[in-house]
Amino acid sequence: MFSRVSLLLLFCCVTVFVDTEAACGTICKFRLCRPDGTENNLRPKGGRILLRAPNTSLSPFICRKFPGGRTLGRIRTTGEAIISNGFSPVRISKWRPKGLSKKFSKKYFKLVNILYLGGKQGIGRIESMANQEDFLDDKCVQLPITSYDILDKGKVFRTVSTTDAKDCVSFTTRTAPIVVELTWSSEDDFDLSVKGPKGAKISANNDNLVGTCNSKPLVPAGKETVTVDPGKNGKYTVIVRHFKSCKGEKTNWTMRVVIDGKTKLIRKGRSSAGGNKVVGEEMFSFP
Ligand SMILES: *[C@@H]1O[C@H](CO)[C@@H](O)[C@H](O)[C@H]1NC(C)=O
Ligand SMILES: *[C@@H]1O[C@H](CO)[C@@H](O)[C@H](O)[C@H]1NC(C)=O
Repeated sequence: MFSRVSLLLLFCCVTVFVDTEAACGTICKFRLCRPDGTENNLRPKGGRILLRAPNTSLSPFICRKFPGGRTLGRIRTTGEAIISNGFSPVRISKWRPKGLSKKFSKKYFKLVNILYLGGKQGIGRIESMANQEDFLDDKCVQLPITSYDILDKGKVFRTVSTTDAKDCVSFTTRTAPIVVELTWSSEDDFDLSVKGPKGAKISANNDNLVGTCNSKPLVPAGKETVTVDPGKNGKYTVIVRHFKSCKGEKTNWTMRVVIDGKTKLIRKGRSSAGGNKVVGEEMFSFP
């Protein structure tokens, strides 16, 4: 009897695990696209994204193809995120993982404009409170899209309001104790590096976006991100370099340090330097 129960349990859990890992939000019709190449550069449904500073986004942008060559315009409203991975899908405000000390707001996940990307929208969130950040790694999130515009040759063709469960975008979350991110407003190449105390694990994130001069189509903005697993407390130095300037024109850049889902430091600059010149250098301490 005992062995039969445990076998059953094993079966159930393996099935749930495979379902949510391999198939996060496959019903969703909205997708994430990268602005390198064409709008057809789709990311897999449920693709992994790094959670970043509150009220900003550096994720790929939301896209969707419609019949007759029409495209997605502005997304006007989103619903409450549904969260899962190893447990049944639940609305985020009703989610009570063991140890969570403050429940999530209905609007925790939302869409916001991606910096320097001309109004394109990406995955965003509000600031994490209490120990919320500790529960957000490796979760499948489905964000309902409840109202959006369809464009025809760049003009609003129709505004759609919907409660269809398939009108959503899905992604799998990734978190890091320290996220250092740099984004800039041109096809130039910038470099971001972080130095820290011995024992800190400093890694380049694998979703960098860096243009090459005169690429077709043009990559309108770039980003580089470094994540840090600090190990112990200490001081860090962030260095921003303007590695290469394509046309010698001024490029705006913004660097942010995010600790446990909260913005710790923001620096902005403008540069036409190129030549791998250091254009920003900042210190911060953890925690
Ligand atoms: C983020 O946006 C929300 C809603 O607009 C606002 O209430 C909150 O103060 C903002 N938080 C930060 C850190 O900017
Ligand atoms: C860059 O910043 C300047 C002001 O500092 C602003 O006028 C300009 O619109 C910005 N350009 C972009 C592409 O963000």
